[in-house]
Amino acid sequence: MRARADWHRDFFRNSFYNPAAGEAARRAPAEASFVLRRLKLKRGSALLDLCCGPGRHAVEFAKKGLAVTGYDLSGEYLREAAARAKKARVALRLARGDMRELKFSGEFDAAVNLFTSFGYFLKFSDDLRTLKGVSRALKPGGFFLIELVNAEHARKSFRPRWWDDMGDHFLLISSELTADGLHETWMRLPKRGGRARARTFFCRLYDRKRLSGTLAQAGLKPLKFWGGYGGAPLSARHSSLICLAIKK
Ligand SMILES: C[S@@+](CC[C@H](N)C(=O)[O-])C[C@H]1O[C@@H](n2cnc3c(N)ncnc32)[C@H](O)[C@@H]1O
Repeated sequence: MRARADWHRDFFRNSFYNPAAGEAARRAPAEASFVLRRLKLKRGSALLDLCCGPGRHAVEFAKKGLAVTGYDLSGEYLREAAARAKKARVALRLARGDMRELKFSGEFDAAVNLFTSFGYFLKFSDDLRTLKGVSRALKPGGFFLIELVNAEHARKSFRPRWWDDMGDHFLLISSELTADGLHETWMRLPKRGGRARARTFFCRLYDRKRLSGTLAQAGLKPLKFWGGYGGAPLSARHSSLICLAIKK
């Protein structure tokens, strides 16, 4: 099944999926520390966490003394980010909006986009518009770090059907791979009764070459690639791709 153009408006809801659930929240401090080592920011620097979701990384960045702005489309996740910040006794500036409509101009020392929060639009021009907004939001020489599904690995290891045990529910996944990306239908089956629900998402697949070209079109120059938070150089073995770029 193919994703609708606006699938991202109802996929990211706590009743269906929360990006900070389970292991993801526990991984956040180590991931944030990898990111901060690459961004080399001074205390007080302004950092944009684009598509911050429930703020699991944003709060870690704020704990290190950065002035963090978390931006996301989901009001529900932003409320969770605010609660996380309050619990950790740190300040977060939170803004709600669509990543294609960024209005910031030259105010950030760095920006991040983590956990495959990019490539969601059926039109490539919307991905480019997002990156142009990131570029505009950065000061000259500002860094941008993005973490995505690694296209090379995703195409090589593609499975049309698989399932996972998520604790309180099973997740049944059926996927379709197209020339442009991956359409994945997630069927959520609660273990203790309740109705099954399904949603389909789309993620445009980027490898090093395609991402480099797209970043360049937005005025961002790729500097380095890793195959995940372990810090190994990117290869087809890695399921994730991390790229550090600089605003030209
Ligand atoms: C996979 S989650 C990752 C969240 C967070 N970066 C993390 O690692 O926990 C993707 C995030 O993108 C947000 N999102 C989806 N579509 C968006 C859009 N068009 N504009 C802004 N945010 C969007 C979702 O609400 C969600 O928080």
